[in-house]
Amino acid sequence: MSMFEQSAEAAAFLRARLGDVPDVAVVLGSGLGDFATGLTDAVTVPYQDIPHWPRATVVGHAGTVVAGSSKGRRVLALAGRAHYYEGHPLTVATFAMRVLGQLGVKHVVLTNAAGGINTRFSTGALMVIDDHINAMGINPLIGPNDERFGARFPDMSEVYSSRLRALADTTAAALGLPLEHGVYVAVCGPSYETPAEIRAFRTLGADAVGMSTVPEAIVARHQGMEVLGISCITNPAAGVLPQPLVHDEVMETARRVRGAFIGLLEGILERL
Ligand code: HPA
Repeated sequence: MSMFEQSAEAAAFLRARLGDVPDVAVVLGSGLGDFATGLTDAVTVPYQDIPHWPRATVVGHAGTVVAGSSKGRRVLALAGRAHYYEGHPLTVATFAMRVLGQLGVKHVVLTNAAGGINTRFSTGALMVIDDHINAMGINPLIGPNDERFGARFPDMSEVYSSRLRALADTTAAALGLPLEHGVYVAVCGPSYETPAEIRAFRTLGADAVGMSTVPEAIVARHQGMEVLGISCITNPAAGVLPQPLVHDEVMETARRVRGAFIGLLEGILERL
């Protein structure tokens, strides 16, 4: 069965369970699952029930699709995502984006936890992704192209919508929330970077580093969806401080900042 047919099956299943499908989806990164549980009038579908959907295996990622309301705005929240480092081929890791496309979702907000490469960034800062560098050495669109999804050689000159980035700024200003901007570099993981890699990425123009988002953003753009990306800078990247990098710190910062992060998300959705 082709990816198109698989994602169509998953979309039909979700449509039957969710009823009216919202036109905006949010992919929740580490520690942000609370956003989904805070939605009202919510219908929750576990990933394992959805045909062909990969299961999330990382601690801190629930693995559910939730359709509900955030301050009166209907939204589809994806709590938990499949990463390349878990061993999924990138076509599988980005399956959710294919399903969102099939569901007619027009806007997708991708959130993540990231290491801060830019030394101006404080731990816990929120960063709008202005652009990305794909340092994964692989692309989710490799393989035969299905024109029903999009073009063989899709344009990537504005992956992250300038309209949505401006909306994030307006929202943050209204909330009195500081908001950084920068370039996100995606790596495969799961090992964290070396200090030499971080220095190299800084030289290349990257401000934050993480192990997700870029494959999803590429696939979303392939399908013509409007993308916004927001990173929570959970830790200084390797070598920025003379201390080792630990996953617990990443989760702890994500937890500490989630109130502000969720407030920003709600504000953006309200204005969308
Ligand atoms: N590197 C890669 N991925 C990450 C980091 C990091 O420092 N922090 C959170 N996700």
